[in-house]
Amino acid sequence: MSKSREILLALALGTGLVLQAQAGEKPIGRVPTPEEIARWDIDVRPDGLGLPPGRGTAREGEEVYLARCAQCHGEFGEAVGRWPQLVGGQGSLTWDDPIKTVTSYWPYAPTIFDYIKRAMPFGDAQSLTDDEVYAITAFLLASDGIIPEDFEVNAETLPKIKMPNAEGFIMDARPDVPKGEPCMKDCVAEVKIIGYAKAIGVTPDEHMRLPTD
Ligand code: HEC
Repeated sequence: MSKSREILLALALGTGLVLQAQAGEKPIGRVPTPEEIARWDIDVRPDGLGLPPGRGTAREGEEVYLARCAQCHGEFGEAVGRWPQLVGGQGSLTWDDPIKTVTSYWPYAPTIFDYIKRAMPFGDAQSLTDDEVYAITAFLLASDGIIPEDFEVNAETLPKIKMPNAEGFIMDARPDVPKGEPCMKDCVAEVKIIGYAKAIGVTPDEHMRLPTD
């Protein structure tokens, strides 16, 4: 975890401490323990940094996938109803109606691990072991022929897997953004209110308000 994220997390958990201490009252909150930070620090970078120990193959992943994922994403990743399709669609990205799936569209394999570990199964996120996430990742990749069925996916091998659309993304030069350090303070001389949420219709309707409003 970067220093700034560590500080942010400390702030998130310890805001009470800071605010209350300033007011001279009894402090609440505390600095998070290294174990607590470790539980939050699960991000995996596209280059594989952050991948935990563990391993899995497609064969092992199939069983977990069928038990935990297939009811929404289909037995073959083809999607059930309007839940997202996960595999298939390779070569379709130039079509008028491209099929953007994990295997046809995502440029990096390690972020598949990151996403599944962080967010799936939908409604029961972070309930899988690292071995299960590795195995399911292998299952999805093998389902679309990106790796063989008995290929072992782990922290070493996953970053080396080349995704079909790896070259399909370009760096955005952002010519409209001024170069140099971003402005963080007093950046706009005068703030002009150009509309109110209510007037442009983005506030909830009467019946959606909380009773205390
Ligand atoms: C209850 C239904 C449900 C289950 C079960 C479920 N998912 Fe999902 N999945 C979703 C939904 C909904 C999304 C889209 C979430 C979003 O975009 O915020 C999604 C998105 C995804 C994506 C990203 C797809 C993309 O192209 O952006 C992946 C990968 C994924 N799920 C994998 C899994 C895996 C692996 C499992 C089993 C461990 C699983 N899901 C279980 C509903 C489900």
